[in-house]
Amino acid sequence: MALLDGRTAVITGGAQGIGFAIAQRFIAEGARVVLGDLNPEATEAAVAALGGPAVAHAVRADVTDAAEMQALVDAAVATFGGLDIMVNNAGITRDATMRKMTEEQFDQVIDVHLKGCWNGTRLAANIMREAKSGAIINISSISGKVGLVGQTNYSAAKAGIVGLTKAAAKEVAHLGVRINAIQPGLIRSAMTEAMPQRIWDQKLAEIPMGRAAEPSEVASAAAFLASDMSSYMTGCVLEVTGGRHI
Ligand SMILES: NC(=O)c1ccc[n+]([C@@H]2O[C@H](COP(=O)([O-])OP(=O)(O)OC[C@H]3O[C@@H](n4cnc5c(N)ncnc54)[C@H](O)[C@@H]3O)[C@@H](O)[C@H]2O)c1
Repeated sequence: MALLDGRTAVITGGAQGIGFAIAQRFIAEGARVVLGDLNPEATEAAVAALGGPAVAHAVRADVTDAAEMQALVDAAVATFGGLDIMVNNAGITRDATMRKMTEEQFDQVIDVHLKGCWNGTRLAANIMREAKSGAIINISSISGKVGLVGQTNYSAAKAGIVGLTKAAAKEVAHLGVRINAIQPGLIRSAMTEAMPQRIWDQKLAEIPMGRAAEPSEVASAAAFLASDMSSYMTGCVLEVTGGRHI
């Protein structure tokens, strides 16, 4: 039997990058997935690439909008009969030093990561508490552990996700719902490939394993936290960083 046989997962920001890799891995482990993302065409294309409607379903959802997030979790129940796993992964960066960062750039990043994660966590937990089981995985970042220059908005949001994860984990542990976080380091995706080569090289130099990760390596940690392999873990933060900032 595969790790996630018969389970249904919602993955925000699932159209590409780490979210898409998590969807691929979950399906390989026997799950069906509902992808929530901003761009409907990209999300439909992701569903086709994942194997079509038997295993995947696309919903246009902005994580900052509670009504759209309610519709997203409801779509999992309507399409595949339940919601067993929620992955709050959608994210953006608006990097700038404090001197140059606008209030809008600060608010946007806090909104997408922190409010988005709060929306996904509470709305998924509402369904999972009825079923007395479920696993929620919040994608934080090593930037939230150590703080990175040019990321006062992003580091604050990603550290906030850790607090949110732990507080929410305590609220619903007795209901059979587990909530954990992952802090990825440098992962190859559109988000990091947009960085100047100089910054990429600086980051690589800080990584004991000497390389960036593939999105599939974050997906492996997500599969572990989604499955019964982590049945006695809640409120934990897994670092997937190649040893960076340990
Ligand atoms: N790539 C890395 O090195 C790295 C490191 C640490 C943490 N992370 C985190 O991992 C997550 C995924 O990042 P990625 O590298 O795959 O990025 P990405 O840019 O490739 O993908 C992000 C996805 O989120 C979607 N999205 C953005 N705003 C949204 C919103 N408001 N509502 C719904 N969807 C939205 C985008 O459309 C996109 O499909 C993010 O939370 C990011 O902060 C990434």
